[in-house]
Amino acid sequence: RNHTVVTEFILLGFTDNLKLQVLLFTVFLLIYLFTLVGNLGMIVLIHIDPKLHTPMYFFISTLSFLDVSYSTIIIPSTLMTFVAERKVISYTACTAQLFLFCIAVTGECYLLAVMAYDRFIAICNPLLYPVIMSKRFCVLLVCSSYFMSCMNATLQTLFIFHLSFCNSNIINHFFCDMPPILKLSCSDTYITDLVHFTCATVLVISTMLLILVSYICIGVTIFKIKSAKGRCKAFSTCASHLTAVTMFYGTGSFMYLRPSSKYSVEHDKIISVFYSLAIPMLNPMIYSLRNKEVKE
Ligand SMILES: *[C@@H]1O[C@H](CO)[C@@H](O)[C@H](O)[C@H]1NC(C)=O
Repeated sequence: RNHTVVTEFILLGFTDNLKLQVLLFTVFLLIYLFTLVGNLGMIVLIHIDPKLHTPMYFFISTLSFLDVSYSTIIIPSTLMTFVAERKVISYTACTAQLFLFCIAVTGECYLLAVMAYDRFIAICNPLLYPVIMSKRFCVLLVCSSYFMSCMNATLQTLFIFHLSFCNSNIINHFFCDMPPILKLSCSDTYITDLVHFTCATVLVISTMLLILVSYICIGVTIFKIKSAKGRCKAFSTCASHLTAVTMFYGTGSFMYLRPSSKYSVEHDKIISVFYSLAIPMLNPMIYSLRNKEVKE
């Protein structure tokens, strides 16, 4: 082998323009603080108010926890790319970031599916709801989401860092995400690409299907309700979840549901900003502004 082994990566971030960097630094920092306050606030609120001790709010607080984690995994290193002289991230830190981010993001996918199921039971089977959604079952659902995403993250990370990196270590992105790293490798990425693409498709299709079926049943049930008021009330408990799902899958599918040959760096950076920064910030707002209980 006549090439050097990469021990660290350089994150290019967004721009070289100094003024723009200061501006972006401020914006990102504000977004981060907002995300922290919103989500931690949600968790604390749900914890201290006995009225919010229901399965739905248990899931919402788990979602908030995931949101906090994944912005904490990404944003500090992104902020670093705006201010640091040398924008380096060590190989180990990059692996860790990729791994943890993968857990948090896929965990969120599974959790959104779980939440759809929760709404489905609440609306289509209200009498049995307290029995089916017991505390134990809720915890089990959340734990299995974490378990699945950990397994997936391990698989993905193993495949990616099995590749060799030799010629370039410059990541044209603002954190260690999978597609830009795949692009950097000097080995043949066909298999890794395929594994990644298959896993992403499996995840999106299975969770989407669950969400879709739940909402079709919910729609049918709501349609059968005679009074307009009852209809409204039933729907309003789903509205926030539906908004969150649409946002998450909308941006997520843009990013991942395609082979890496169709990959455009600048385009992806913008989408990444949405799903890695905007969504964690918006989720608590969606859930707090739309829910009467939380507003109270
Ligand atoms: C595994 O992780 C990747 C990378 O974050 C993701 O795109 C994919 O949807 C996940 N797949 C499953 C089955 O969890």
